[in-house]
This record gives sequence, C-alpha cells and structure tokens, in this order.
Amino acid sequence: FLHKMAKDPVRVLVTGAAGQIGYALVPMIARGVMLGADQPVILHMLDIPPAAESLNGVKMELVDAAFPLLKGVVATTDVVEACTGVNIAVMVGGFPRKEGMERKDVMSKNVSIYKSQASALEKHAAANCKVLVVANPANTNALILKEFAPSIPEKNISCLTRLDHNRALGQISERLNIQVSDVKNVIIWGNHSSTQYPDVNHATVVTPDGEKSVRQLVADDAWLNGEFITTVQQRGAAIIKARKLSSALSAASAACDHIRDWVLGTPQGTWVSMGVYSDGSYNVPAGLIYSFPVTCANGEWKIVQGLPIDEFSRKKLDLTAEELSEEKALAYSCLT
Ligand code: NAD
Ligand code: LMR
Repeated sequence: FLHKMAKDPVRVLVTGAAGQIGYALVPMIARGVMLGADQPVILHMLDIPPAAESLNGVKMELVDAAFPLLKGVVATTDVVEACTGVNIAVMVGGFPRKEGMERKDVMSKNVSIYKSQASALEKHAAANCKVLVVANPANTNALILKEFAPSIPEKNISCLTRLDHNRALGQISERLNIQVSDVKNVIIWGNHSSTQYPDVNHATVVTPDGEKSVRQLVADDAWLNGEFITTVQQRGAAIIKARKLSSALSAASAACDHIRDWVLGTPQGTWVSMGVYSDGSYNVPAGLIYSFPVTCANGEWKIVQGLPIDEFSRKKLDLTAEELSEEKALAYSCLT
C-alpha cells in the first residue's frame, strides 16, 4: 500500500471562542492554517454561560462549513471538559479593551480568569500541551497561568506578540513599497502594550541582489526611531478607534502564525517574536514573560543570542521590562 498514513487529529482548545477573535480563528484552524493542510484537528471551544447560545451557533457554522480536516467539535461552558486532552491551548477568553481604556484597566477582570484556568489545564490537558495566551494583558495573563500551573513546563507557555511583529513587517513593506514576505527579522521586545519596542536594527529585505538592511534601504533614521515605533506601539488603539472593536482578523492570523512556527519550525535564517519566560537573556529580568526574537525547531523555541544592543535600544528594552514588573505586582494585588 502506497497511500500515506493519515495523521492522528490534534486537539486544539480556543477559549473565548464565541468572541470576535474566536469567530475569525476557528475557521482558520479548521482549514489547516495553523497546523498544516495534512493535519486533522478536533476543536475544543470554551466560553461562559451568557455566550453559550452564541457558541453553539459557531459550532453549527463549523458543521455547515464541511471542513475536511475537522474531525470533531466540543463546544462547552465547562472548563474541565474544554481542557481535557488538548494538545494546544489558545487562550482568547477575557474582556477586551474599549476606546479610552488603558490596558491596566482590563487587568483585574482578566488575571483571575487565568489563575483559575491554569489549574484546569494543568490537570486535564495532554502532556506537553503548548499554551498561547492572546487575551490581554497577554504577557501577565501568561505569567499568572504559568505560576498557577507549576507542573506545566515553562517552555510550553507563551503569549502573542506576533501580531506586533507582523504589524512591524507591514509598516516596513508599506514604507518601501515592497512585498511584506520580503521583509524579515524585525523584533518585538517586551510587553504586548504601548511600551513594546519594535526594533529594526537587525531586519533585512530580500532583494534580487541579496539581503539588504532595512535601515540602509529606508535611509531615514528619524522615521525609524520615531513614527515607525509609535505607529506599531499604538496600532491596537488605532484599530479600536477605527472599528470601535479591537483587532480580530489580524490577531487570529497572528495566533496561527505563532503556533505554526512553534510546532513546524521557523524557516532557515528567520526569527519571529514570541512572548516567553525570560531566562535573563539580554539582561531582561528572569521571571517575566517577555517578547524576544526566537527560532523554533522540533517543537521548541530558542531565544536568538548575541545580537548587539545599542544604547537607544537598551533603554527601550529596560522600560518595557519595568512595565512588566509593575504589571506582575499589580496582577498579584488583584488576585488577593
Ligand atoms: P470578545 O469580547 O469579542 O471575546 C472574548 C470572549 O471571551 C467572549 O465571548 C467572552 O464571553 C469570553 N470569555 C470571558 N470570560 C471568559 C472565561 N472566563 N472563559 C472563557 N471565555 C470567556 O473579545 P476579542 O475581541 O475576541 O478579544 C479577546 C481578547 O484578546 C481580549 O483580551 C483582547 O484584548 C485580546 N487581544 C489580544 C491581542 C494580542 O495581540 N495579544 C490582539 C487582539 C486582542
Ligand atoms: C491589539 O494589539 O490590537 C490588542 O491587544 C487590542 C488592544 O487592546 O490593543
């Protein structure tokens, strides 16, 4: 028999699945955008009782879409049922920021959710489950999840800064009027917030004459050190202002990029940004979930080491680390 053995389905949990990111994300997962066109999936969708009817409507649409890769759907308001046996957990459940709100305002509402869901994941998810926290404050929710799920290895817990990374790629490609797929190796350092540091010092563009540095091609340091950074930092707020809702399709797409690269690996010579548990690399305090440049292979991420950090960058790396330390303290004060 020459036919390929079908792969076993992977169970993917999406919390907050009745919300707007969930609505964009579940069809992407069911189409193979996250795990590949040959990877069957079983979707686990969790939401809270007030959203149960709407969640069931999403389940009906998934049936109606007749996705060939989708081998099953669990739609539930029961955390234990939702977490049982999952290989990948995408944590989107929570309350989004509205116009005029700072991210700190959503803190107390959201961190307590992550404390309680940590133990459900720890007890019921599959061994080696990979966790991606999307809900804000994403880094601090991920940290709380990590601290209250001590048996989940810290290397398995991450937060989403890939959206910021992709936003930076988008801004550079617009500015240079080139394909976004020709830009690579931007970095998002730190928090998924307005203190994040979008860094292009190591970014390159693929041209017919080889790779060239973004700084050289843009040839406008004032823009790169000013408006470029603030545009990426403030993009979430700009989307909220324009849509009266926070970003959803771009967030869902970035979540797929994050998991795909983590599981299937980053291309040779390319890194991506992921919020991961700091080991002290680049003198970032250990014990924070901080966005670093990472490469992935064999299902594991590794922080890219040895990049030179100039004085301008150093200040920005430290500033966003300070905010994360404050958020950590604030999160603990909300939990007591
Ligand atoms: P939304 O309000 O449309 O959906 C959130 C869903 O979570 C709702 O259906 C709600 O009922 C559900 N929910 C609330 N508490 C829950 C709980 N305890 N368990 C399970 N589900 C629960 O919001 P959205 O626009 O989909 O955004 C979701 C989150 O993602 C927000 O926190 C938002 O700020 C964040 N976000 C992060 C990024 C990022 O790049 N990291 C980007 C965009 C949005
Ligand atoms: C985003 O970056 O779009 C989200 O985190 C929403 C927000 O509150 O900024």
